[in-house]
Order: sequence, then structure tokens, then C-alpha cells
Amino acid sequence: MNFYELAQERYSARKYKPAKIEEEKINLILEAGRIAPTATNAQPQRIYVLTGDEALKKINEITPYAFHAPLVMLVCADISKAWKNPFNGRNSAEMDASIVTTHMMLQAKELGIDSVWVCYFDTEKVKKKFNLPENIEPYCLMPMGYAADDATPSPRHSQRKPLDETVTFI
Ligand SMILES: Cc1cc2nc3c(=O)[nH]c(=O)nc-3n(C[C@H](O)[C@H](O)[C@H](O)COP(=O)(O)O)c2cc1C
Repeated sequence: MNFYELAQERYSARKYKPAKIEEEKINLILEAGRIAPTATNAQPQRIYVLTGDEALKKINEITPYAFHAPLVMLVCADISKAWKNPFNGRNSAEMDASIVTTHMMLQAKELGIDSVWVCYFDTEKVKKKFNLPENIEPYCLMPMGYAADDATPSPRHSQRKPLDETVTFI
């Protein structure tokens, strides 16, 4: 499968088999995130891999969008370590965390593991329940696992705008 085919194949899976992801696959997914680019190579991402029963119970209590997957990546960044754009003051932590997450999502797909990007959760609750340090900001969750046999892409998966609505050549 070439890259475009892989990107096309990926869809947001919202129903998972209970089967755990093999350790070597988890490690490769994390490794693909590790080599992602970040602003000034600051690597402010901090990833909590939720696989234990207690951690998974906690996250499923916080949001219905953990979908009872066997693994949930809680993707955070240390905002004190991220580059800050001097022109507009923007901290790059969220962008950095996003590209790391994208690498992991696509590496997972190549290994036959499905996922869904989730932002619908109370970040304050997550910080409190997982005792995150003050400067660690959670950005997204990524439930991962083997999609259930009856999991299907939502209709949104096939609704992408044509390039001329989102791209301008100048
Ligand atoms: C930043 C971001 C936040 C998202 N948050 C959620 C979410 O909280 N719950 C959910 O079910 N899907 C969430 N999604 C998945 C999108 O709804 C999904 O990617 C989009 O509808 C396209 O469908 P596809 O991923 O199947 O191609 C999110 C995706 C992104 C990129």
C-alpha cells in the first residue's frame, strides 16, 4: 500500500474488539511519533499510554469518546518546553503534539490498527484524574485497537471538499 492508499484507507473507528495491541506494535507506533518534526526540534510532546484497566476505566468515565478501546493515547505537551512564535506569541505545543499524533495514527494504520482522534473531553478533568503536572497540557486522545467486525466509517469519511474550495495557488 502506498502512502496515498494508506491515508485513504484510514477512517475514524468508533467500535473496537477487546483484543490488546501487541507490545512491538505499540512500540513502533510510539517510535513513529518520536521521529515527527517539532518546532525548533523542541519535542515538547508527552504521551501517556493508557492500557491498564484502571486508566482505561478512568478515561471511559471522563468521555464516551474513548469507545472502550484497548489502548488510548493521551497526547499532551509540556508548554514550557515548546517554541513560541515571537511574531504572534503563539506556542507551538498543540501543533507539535498534532503532528506526533498524526505520525502515530498513520503508523498504526499501516500495522492494521485503527484509531480515532478525539478532542471531546474535559481537559481539566483529565489533568486532575491523571495527576498531570501543571505545565503538561492535554490536547487529544487517540483510542486505538483492532476495529470491530461491524465497525464502519461514518458518512463524513467520504465527504471531503474539492481542492478548489480549500487550496489557493497564488
Ligand atoms: C482535531 C480533531 C478532533 C476530533 N474529535 C473527535 C471527537 O471528539 N469524537 C469523535 O468521535 N471524532 C472526532 N474526530 C474525528 C472526526 O470527526 C473525523 O476525522 C472526521 O469526521 C472525518 O472522518 P474520518 O476520520 O472517518 O475520515 C476528530 C478529528 C480531529 C482531527
